[in-house]
Amino acid sequence: MHNRQPSQRQVNGLNKQHWWRDAVIYQVYVRSFLDSTGDGIGDLAGVRAGLPYLKKLGVDGIWLSPFYPSPQHDHGYDVADYCDVDPLFGDLAEFDLLMAAARRLGIRVLLDIVPNHCSSEHPWFREALAAGPGSAARARFHFADGRGPDGAEPPNNWHSMFGGPAWSRVTEADGRPGQWYLHMFAPEQPDWNWRDPGTGAEFDRILRFWLDRGIDGFRIDVAAGLFKHPELPDSDDPEADARTRDSVNPLAWNQPEVHAVWRDWRSLCEEYTARDGRERLLVGEVSVPTAREHARYVRSDELHQAFFFDLLSAPWDADAFRKVVSEAMQDIAGTGSTVTWVLNNHDQVRTVTRYGEPATEGSGLGAARARAAALLMLALPGAAYVYQGEELGLPEVVDLPDDVLTDPIFRRTGSRARIRDGCRVPLPWSGQASPFGFTSGVEGAKPWLPQPEWFAQHATDRALADTRSFWHLYREGLQLRSSLPQLGEGTLRWLDTPPGVLAFVRGDDLVCAVNFTTAPVPAPVPGTPLLASGDCPAAGVLPGSTTAWWINDL
Ligand code: GLC
Repeated sequence: MHNRQPSQRQVNGLNKQHWWRDAVIYQVYVRSFLDSTGDGIGDLAGVRAGLPYLKKLGVDGIWLSPFYPSPQHDHGYDVADYCDVDPLFGDLAEFDLLMAAARRLGIRVLLDIVPNHCSSEHPWFREALAAGPGSAARARFHFADGRGPDGAEPPNNWHSMFGGPAWSRVTEADGRPGQWYLHMFAPEQPDWNWRDPGTGAEFDRILRFWLDRGIDGFRIDVAAGLFKHPELPDSDDPEADARTRDSVNPLAWNQPEVHAVWRDWRSLCEEYTARDGRERLLVGEVSVPTAREHARYVRSDELHQAFFFDLLSAPWDADAFRKVVSEAMQDIAGTGSTVTWVLNNHDQVRTVTRYGEPATEGSGLGAARARAAALLMLALPGAAYVYQGEELGLPEVVDLPDDVLTDPIFRRTGSRARIRDGCRVPLPWSGQASPFGFTSGVEGAKPWLPQPEWFAQHATDRALADTRSFWHLYREGLQLRSSLPQLGEGTLRWLDTPPGVLAFVRGDDLVCAVNFTTAPVPAPVPGTPLLASGDCPAAGVLPGSTTAWWINDL
């Protein structure tokens, strides 16, 4: 559809300097991507088999959700051994094969590292339980005596992000109820004490273990966590975390000491770069109240990137989107970093559904808006992350039966919050019936979460064959992004637009316009678009719920 020869800019080349500043990374939620063994759970060999598909899509790299040995209480975000592969997902030899295949295809690989907490099955936590109060082993975590008669009340009033108190009481060796330990998430996820020098040293060892295996960087879980207020005092608003799931307890999150950790980790990455010239990437999951606070995590000697979640949480509204983009450009890009845009991940309701898909068929307003949002995100200056299945326009599975839900949030909120399972249903690859090619080789194999019948409409084989699919939109957007020098990092200039419409210019002449309303509006530039998220039947008109890109001398 585009009318201009691509420039020779090589953004996908493994040698591009500062490649991460405008990379597009695809998030692989391993247990739901592709199952090579027929046990209904995706695995590393499945990821390897899917790499050509991702190459064709045109992403620069992948982020793999945690695959380490884990009792899977929070699907791997409860890590029992940071330097191995859970047999559910394969083994280290399979990991090495995946790395080699990714390298051959020029796809970078990021691992998900979980430094805020581990699993209650981690040997150091078991040692702490056995060692008793006051021991060096307990100092690696946050153990404290309870309050009230017999210490039966938690040490403070903090809430867990997953609901309920942030403390659980242990039974001591003599069989009596004893101290409490802190877990900002599930009780099976005890928080590390980063004030203990052993914690930092252990993570240094873990990072080196994986960097030595050739990876390209880490996605850092809960990167505004790690340090808690040293006194662990009561919070003035103990309900806050439980109410919003935002990182709002200022005593538990965003403590100033965390920045020293990111400086250390950045130096470690640079040590590896100095050896071979290959830049390693640190991208943080940073939930902090303002873009200005966020920018402190991506200072030039800290994290390379941090997910900017405000785009994801903005309602489908031109003013809301403009405010989010402007703030990010001013407060984050303005400090010399680039913005890392996200519309979705494995913790969020799927975009098509979030933007208003009333039912499950995935072809209405929510889908049109999700397509428009995708093209908007790919036109913004900076980097972008795409969660698996978004390129298929998968809607949320909203009607999973209670007995298959596995999210600890569901359990800990007394079955009130059905938040995170519906976006984790295994991907449909082919065919008309579950398992839709997700599992291979075993007759009757069942995916770990049931796939609805209507997944057939979104299967990758159908998406690849239909040039009007989400998949082709993403692919064309990614291709243009990597060939047009106007896109990727840089600045943007807003154009005047009527209410409900946004338009901005990238470089001298690339215009991206989004019509947030449902009615057609005059396009801000004449001519036929280079690429559009929906039909643009007449030149000079931008239909409702559509984004379009033009190249036009302005
Ligand atoms: C992050 C992860 C989420 C996990 C939580 C605790 O928010 O994205 O899936 O449950 O951290 O590790």
